[in-house]
Formats: sequence, C-alpha cells, structure tokens
Amino acid sequence: MKKIIYGIFVMSSLLLLFSSCYNDNEYDLYPFPTTPCDSSNVTYSGTISLIMTANCNVCHSAAVASGGIITDNYNDLSGLATNGMLWGGVNWESGFGPMPKGGSKLSSCDLGKIKKWINLGAPNN
Ligand code: HEC
Repeated sequence: MKKIIYGIFVMSSLLLLFSSCYNDNEYDLYPFPTTPCDSSNVTYSGTISLIMTANCNVCHSAAVASGGIITDNYNDLSGLATNGMLWGGVNWESGFGPMPKGGSKLSSCDLGKIKKWINLGAPNN
C-alpha cells in the first residue's frame, strides 16, 4: 500500500514539474497581435485630423478641393460633420461618396471614432 501511495506521489510530482515548464508567450499564442479599437479618447487634433490626413486630405485640401469639399482643417470639417456629409461619405450612404473615392471603406474602428466625434458635436479639441 505504501508503495502505491509513494508511486502516485512521485508520478504527480513529475507531472507537475513538466506541466509547469510549458513556456508560452504572447507571440506564440497570437502571432498577429491586433490592436484593440480604443475610441475612449476621441479628439479632433489627436484622432480625427489624423484620419483625414491619412485618407482624405490628398483630394480635399484648399489646393485640391475635389467636389468643393475641404477636410484638412477644423472649420470646414466640422461643417461637414454637422450637415451630415462627412458621415454620409465615409459610411457609404446612398447619395454620398463613397469616400475615400476609389479606395476601400475606412476600418470600422476609424468609422466608430468619426461617429463618436460627430455625436459629441464635433468639438475642436
Ligand atoms: C482620390 C480622391 C479622393 C479621396 C481620397 C477622398 N475623396 Fe471625397 N471626393 C472626391 C471627389 C472627386 C468628390 C466629388 C464627388 C465625386 O466625384 O464623387 C468627393 C466628394 C466628397 C464629399 C461630398 C459628398 C459626397 O459624398 O459625394 C465628401 C463629404 C467627401 N468627398 C468626403 C471625403 C472624406 C471624408 C474622405 C476621406 C475618408 C474623402 N472624401 C476622400 C475625391 C476624393
């Protein structure tokens, strides 16, 4: 009887020893880490203006105002935010856009940030 108990003890110690040596790291588990969408702190200067620079201003600056639309400064963009054209364009609503013209739709993360900024009243922050 003692031998059996001793045997079980040795076996479970070995099991513990080896199972606890498994070395997992974030990269092995998630080889393509995705940055979670953080729309908690949406501001014009830190968020919206960057999305516009990356996707819109090449066609919508004062120098190149395609369709008479300018997205590279607060005054013009907040006007588009409040009259519904900004959302209509980026969300590909019928009668608008689709913007960015000739490109693919913005990520749902960027769209969420734009929507939030519009809902906040398009503040200049
Ligand atoms: C490759 C050039 C190009 C890019 C990039 C682009 N636009 Fe446009 N946009 C146009 C043109 C040209 C028009 C004029 C209407 C048309 O031809 O569809 C226009 C029209 C618009 C309009 C007027 C209403 C409408 O939807 O037609 C809005 C609003 C607009 N763009 C917003 C944006 C926003 C916001 C972005 C970035 C997400 C963007 N555009 C990116 C070329 C562009």
